[in-house]
Amino acid sequence: MKFLLNLLIKLGLSGYLAQQLQQPKGFFGSRFIGKMMNRGNAELEQLALSCAQVLPSHHMLEIGFGNGQLLQELCKQVQNGKIYGADISQDLINQVAARLKTHIANQTLELHHAGVNQLPLKNESIDTIITNNTIYFWPNPAADAKELLRVLKPNGKLVIGFRTANDMKNYPFVTENLHIFRNHYTVNQVTDLLLTAGFTSVEIKTKTGDLATSHVAVGTK
Ligand SMILES: C[S@@+](CC[C@H](N)C(=O)[O-])C[C@H]1O[C@@H](n2cnc3c(N)ncnc32)[C@H](O)[C@@H]1O
Repeated sequence: MKFLLNLLIKLGLSGYLAQQLQQPKGFFGSRFIGKMMNRGNAELEQLALSCAQVLPSHHMLEIGFGNGQLLQELCKQVQNGKIYGADISQDLINQVAARLKTHIANQTLELHHAGVNQLPLKNESIDTIITNNTIYFWPNPAADAKELLRVLKPNGKLVIGFRTANDMKNYPFVTENLHIFRNHYTVNQVTDLLLTAGFTSVEIKTKTGDLATSHVAVGTK
């Protein structure tokens, strides 16, 4: 997968790569890009999952679920609650829906073609939202954070996994495509974003791994 990433960059296809990371499309996007995300983001995903403190009765939402690896794990942990997924890529939704069809059939999982800015969910219906590696693409972070606050129950948690602006600047497919990777934050800026939107507190967890440093912001409503 690292070979594929380097090949695309060498071929001058970093714009195509950035577009596929923002909204995977077609066979290449939903198969290869999804797998690449899984490998590169496993540590970040584990840190976010541990911060989410999932209970079997929880109502969980994952936004920007990629190829659905974390949704699959949530389906194991949530037994009498419910899991929702929202993503803007219809091709990824189709692929994940086929793989997790049993959970959809027994109504523990619901997938929505929707962006972070307009979630088809009721006010105060979700215990925990997880969203990893999506904040860079949010169309209007200040308003989007408020949309997340809307669907969270009182005391609900928002778990955001991300790489900082400092780390992102090491990736040429990011720096050459700032119109796609629009939002670059320090940990303090993510904290400010959530507090300004109305979250009552924000905690940051950081883990330095082999591939990159993972940061998770946990905002409490
Ligand atoms: C870089 S991938 C991250 C996938 C996975 N969460 C991970 O960390 O490996 C970004 C994902 O977010 C989705 N996405 C991008 N912009 C979004 C938005 N505005 N609202 C919801 N999902 C979005 C993409 O379709 C894709 O599935």
